[in-house]
Amino acid sequence: MNKNIDQTSKHIEKANQYIKENKDRVTNRPLFHFTAPIGWLNDPNGLCYFNGEYHLYYQYNPYDIKWDLMHWGHAVSSDLVNWHHKGLALGPDEAYEIDGCFSGSAIEKDGKLFIMYTGHLDPGKDSKDPEWRRQSVRENQNLAVSQNGDNFLKSEVNPVIDTGDLPAGMLPQDFRDPKIIEKDGIYYCVLAARNERYKGVILLYRSLDLMNWNYVGTIAESHNPKEEILECPDLIEMSGKDLLILSAIDLHEPDLGEVRRNLHPTYYCLGNVDFEDGKGQWESRVELDCGFNFYAPQSFVDHEGRRIMIGWISPWDADEEPRVKNGWAGMMSVPRVLSLRDGALIQEPVESIKSLRKKNYVLIQEKSLVDECKSFDGVEGRRYDLSFKVDMTSGQRFMIEVGKGKGCTTSLTYDKKQALWSFDRRHNGEKNMPIFDKLNQWYSLREIQDKEAKDIMDFRILLDNYCLEIFADGGRRVFTAMIDPHLDGRGIDFSANGSCIIQDLEFYLLDNQKES
Ligand code: FRU
Repeated sequence: MNKNIDQTSKHIEKANQYIKENKDRVTNRPLFHFTAPIGWLNDPNGLCYFNGEYHLYYQYNPYDIKWDLMHWGHAVSSDLVNWHHKGLALGPDEAYEIDGCFSGSAIEKDGKLFIMYTGHLDPGKDSKDPEWRRQSVRENQNLAVSQNGDNFLKSEVNPVIDTGDLPAGMLPQDFRDPKIIEKDGIYYCVLAARNERYKGVILLYRSLDLMNWNYVGTIAESHNPKEEILECPDLIEMSGKDLLILSAIDLHEPDLGEVRRNLHPTYYCLGNVDFEDGKGQWESRVELDCGFNFYAPQSFVDHEGRRIMIGWISPWDADEEPRVKNGWAGMMSVPRVLSLRDGALIQEPVESIKSLRKKNYVLIQEKSLVDECKSFDGVEGRRYDLSFKVDMTSGQRFMIEVGKGKGCTTSLTYDKKQALWSFDRRHNGEKNMPIFDKLNQWYSLREIQDKEAKDIMDFRILLDNYCLEIFADGGRRVFTAMIDPHLDGRGIDFSANGSCIIQDLEFYLLDNQKES
């Protein structure tokens, strides 16, 4: 392992200096959703528990509130809630990564932290010919190692996987986001690529030492012909099954009349991977988050054996004005603990979020709603943790509205007869989030068919001013959205068609000072 010390220090030092001089102009941060010290962030990278701390690395452009030349930012935490910013971890210094250090993952070996990430090359970036620009992009995979999680040395044998290591029939332009796993003393890595038929694929590679990698097979392909790019794969072993997590960019405009689709969805596929032959057999493919803004999640197992996942909450297509004012763009989801229940992935907010709960709370044991809409005293705010059960045995429809104020509301509804969830942020506010798209409403209304919903369902709702995460049916369905922090939008309303009983409601305002 070595590195070009002069170059590395130039990129990282320049960025660290810029952050130091400018971070104080950042305003209006969320309370418990991670944001960069200043500027733009996207995917979580290299998530791990190493040397007694949680490490969160991330795709980072400190200099602007837009995506651009990618570095790796870095933060540490002891509880996954309070994060401490560190200096940058990677800068695009070397010839093989000169146009960006793209996403990747981390693994501990011999007491050291190894990261594998994508080097991005875009030699046509200044060209006026978009086709040549597209064709000339190349991506490769690199290794770096750290003793302390802060400073990394890039391997002298980088790239450790280059476009020459792609199997026949793959395009060299999209080949990225290595996620390393270890199984029975052998390292594997899943990578996103694209084949000559313009389909996204997930490739499996194998290594004994993290340096030398061999292609094993193609374990998944995109389903939908519109899905040209799969990104950020994660392969997880859970309860004897293999779980593949994917992010898929849908490059196509929606067809006329085709609304309510998420153009940046994430999925989980449940099945089995044959690691010898490199084949994947998938029994199901389910949308991982049924909202609007959850993308590129990555998971890891911590020292307590919990499988924890964090996703990027993207400001896709949102109005830029508030970002310019605030100085930050993009945040991380609340860390979510994953498990399987009856073949479904369950996501639950990490326990330590409860440390932000203020002492005073509202508790409602039981309230029956019959064809009516109700709010409860003291149950309102912009930063809170709300949980309750709904018994819909005799109900047809249940709706919860949050961020409700003059002319603004965001709602989640379950309609039993239609077996349909509707997540509606069309009236979430005025500025920050796209309310209507040019063509249609597909940024603001989702409808998800779901016949598995139970008559009695647990809900947990975390609102952090800009960001709403709803864990419905005990975390079997999750709905994430950025919403406008509308000043008077503090209300919470519960509505029923037929008879719905609300039980065990607990409402806490959240703050990082724990006064009452
Ligand atoms: C996903 C992604 C990755 C890539 C990174 C670049 O959001 O496009 O595929 O590595 O972002 O920032």
